[in-house]
Amino acid sequence: MSDRYDPKTTPWEIEEKDFPAKGESEEKLRFLLRYAILAPSSHNTQPWKFAVRDNEIRISADKTRWLKVADADQRELHISVGCALENLVIAAQHFGYADQVEYFPQGEDSLVAVVKLIPEGKTERPRDPVLFEEIPRRHTNHKIYDARPIPEAQMARLHACCDEEGFWFFPTNEAPNEAELRRRVDELITRGDAIQFADPTYREELGYWIGQGVFGTPWLMAKITQLAVTYLNVGKRQAKNDSELLLSAPVLAALGSAVDDRKSQVKVGQIFERIALTATHLGMAVHPMSQILEIPELKTEVSTLLPKENLFPQHTFRLGYAEPEKEHTPRRSLEQVLLREAASIRTYKGGQHGRASD
Ligand SMILES: Cc1cc2nc3c(=O)[nH]c(=O)nc-3n(C[C@H](O)[C@H](O)[C@H](O)COP(=O)(O)O)c2cc1C
Repeated sequence: MSDRYDPKTTPWEIEEKDFPAKGESEEKLRFLLRYAILAPSSHNTQPWKFAVRDNEIRISADKTRWLKVADADQRELHISVGCALENLVIAAQHFGYADQVEYFPQGEDSLVAVVKLIPEGKTERPRDPVLFEEIPRRHTNHKIYDARPIPEAQMARLHACCDEEGFWFFPTNEAPNEAELRRRVDELITRGDAIQFADPTYREELGYWIGQGVFGTPWLMAKITQLAVTYLNVGKRQAKNDSELLLSAPVLAALGSAVDDRKSQVKVGQIFERIALTATHLGMAVHPMSQILEIPELKTEVSTLLPKENLFPQHTFRLGYAEPEKEHTPRRSLEQVLLREAASIRTYKGGQHGRASD
């Protein structure tokens, strides 16, 4: 690993052999967090904080990084934290720990989960061991996808990732009305882009995060793009791009849950991360497209498209094959997301003073 921290490269250069096998328990657990922070998150906000004590890791939602406009109900915030939790569990199991996850031990608050890690313990829900090495290789792929279909055997691997009661994975290629479904989703995405980009508060929020460099664009470019996004309604152009991306993919997929509470959203994040890592293992590309769930009236329409009644759509994405992305998105360093003081482990409730915590 290089001496200087570069958010776009250093976090991804993690090597298994650097696990401090002879170190203190907390040192080992902190190493596992280096896998957790490689998780995907909406707008790459990385809305998580961790505290390590003895054999326990506490994961909190960092609400200073909540997308108040795009993600008004904090669904994506909790899905993102779920993705980080899943990476942590996969890494912990790889290094021989059994995990016991307690969700929202203080009720639905910023403390999302307490993960107890027992060295050489027996794991109740073992993860597919191939997922571990995909953590630093996974990438959101924003490119045009090849039209070639996903073979049944690969679809079966993706289905196996959604193995919890009360959660469903719905890919369009298995629906009897596939063509009609794709057309309806495309229409919703086009409407979603038009609604969001006509809203100056949405553009300001998106511009702010682009200006923070979250997508890995060089500083000057990020600032120019921030200004353009903030002051120009590029909704039509965005809708055309998104429509091309969407329709190029052989599969559009949704994850749905029977219950719409915080714990379900965190679990959706865990399931999605397993799907994304499995897809990476199979040479597939994945791209969440969230606008249709960010606008309440469109979300209601999405729920009517699901092949099962009374479910809550939680996450929508496309799947297929594409040229790999060249660069990773940046990550905040472990130091930036670690809560240090013992007292804060018990009392952290998320920041309340604006958006950026660093
Ligand atoms: C809950 C959630 C929602 C997301 N929504 C979108 C989206 O609507 N459009 C998009 O291009 N990417 C979306 N993403 C992908 C993020 O932008 C991506 O994870 C982040 O930029 C980090 O990049 P990486 O996944 O390549 O590591 C979403 C990711 C998550 C976890």
